[in-house]
Amino acid sequence: MKPRVTIVLGLQWGDEGKGKILDVMAAEADWVLRAQGGNNAGHTVEIGKEKYVLHLVPSGILRSDVSCLIAGGAVVDPAGLVKEIEGLTKRKIRTRGRLHLAAQAHLVLPHHRAVDQGSEKRRGHGKIGTTGRGIGPAYSDKAARVGLRAGELALPTKELGRRIRERVAAHNHAASAQGWDKISATRTIREIERAARVLRPYLADGVMLAHQAVASGKRILIEGAQGTFLDVDHGTYPFVTSSHCTAGGACTGTGVPPTAIHRVVGVLKAYTTRVGGGPFVTEDGTLGHLLHGMGREFGSTTGRARRCGWFDAVLVRRAVQLNGVTEMAITNLDGLDGLEKIPVCVGYRLNGKIFREPPVEASAWAKCRPVYRVFEGWCEPTTEARHWKQLPRKARTYLSAIAEMVGAPLGIISVGAGRDQTFRHG
Ligand code: IMP
Repeated sequence: MKPRVTIVLGLQWGDEGKGKILDVMAAEADWVLRAQGGNNAGHTVEIGKEKYVLHLVPSGILRSDVSCLIAGGAVVDPAGLVKEIEGLTKRKIRTRGRLHLAAQAHLVLPHHRAVDQGSEKRRGHGKIGTTGRGIGPAYSDKAARVGLRAGELALPTKELGRRIRERVAAHNHAASAQGWDKISATRTIREIERAARVLRPYLADGVMLAHQAVASGKRILIEGAQGTFLDVDHGTYPFVTSSHCTAGGACTGTGVPPTAIHRVVGVLKAYTTRVGGGPFVTEDGTLGHLLHGMGREFGSTTGRARRCGWFDAVLVRRAVQLNGVTEMAITNLDGLDGLEKIPVCVGYRLNGKIFREPPVEASAWAKCRPVYRVFEGWCEPTTEARHWKQLPRKARTYLSAIAEMVGAPLGIISVGAGRDQTFRHG
């Protein structure tokens, strides 16, 4: 049977609207697999008047016939996941039997949060601007081979407690010298045991589940969290998250082999945003002011106002190459509705030269200045459009030009938060 696996991931710095696109695409899916990241992500889905913000649970959970897996490449804060499950249950969304947690996923423990927050404080002006959720330290422990995995939640209470106590003792030993808060082992054990009781029935061999779904020809979406330029290898290092947000990460995170992937949907905004520190060549305070004034572009996980800027074709062209994007889903087109002129960055100027590729070093990246091509704005609402032909001509010109510049075809266009405000190109 031919595998039917689609990767859906972000082509910018996260917050591209993946939650909404995944929710729409899940109408034609059997499984949604979350590949990496943790509850640093915030995927917002609006269904009618209801608004859902998902952090760890794949967006497919909002479609009752879709099964979901938090795969081994993710890092899971047990108490955070329980809170999310309880929130969904309260809103009559069934998770038992539909949501699965890979035993291979690593756990985010309270001391990881203490390290994350303490390290950020110490970095001062050079801080990364993390979400403070302990993601980096959890992935560090995984790489250092001292992490705890979700499967360990099924251990007898005494053994689980012993393993947690050992990790907390090591943390507390280093805490004073590093400027981290010390953690109570007893409180940690209590918190994790409570969460373990809820999560045990969700535990599964994530790789086996994914492979069974692939082998039986199920329609699978692999959900990427964050975005290409937050990828620890390919992003604006060190201003990145600690996982692989690119297409390769979707495969390692789920255990689904590259040969099973038949489609890669790159989600991107019609402009650019980023949260936290790091270079942002097209950042524009006036655009940010305008979008924030419209009530847009506030983080769904931390509530922070996002930094805003113009569309950066240099960046997205690189993301298209890195991920092997087969089609794009462009969101937030309506954010540009009121503008008379819309610049698009087509090159970076650095030391008197123009580059079409981004630099490697974050310090060089920070010195790049944008070379713009300016498009005429359409100055009318796009939110009511339901077909490509219903978009203003200038909006179509803008989108088609972007697709040509970055080298990937347009697939889906989104002109608002609602499920119905979505249509295919052409
Ligand atoms: P961390 O993932 O919390 O370690 O944060 C590292 C960087 O990634 C910071 O700049 C965060 O703002 C950013 N980040 C992490 N998760 C997301 C997300 O879901 N959307 C946008 N930015 C994110």
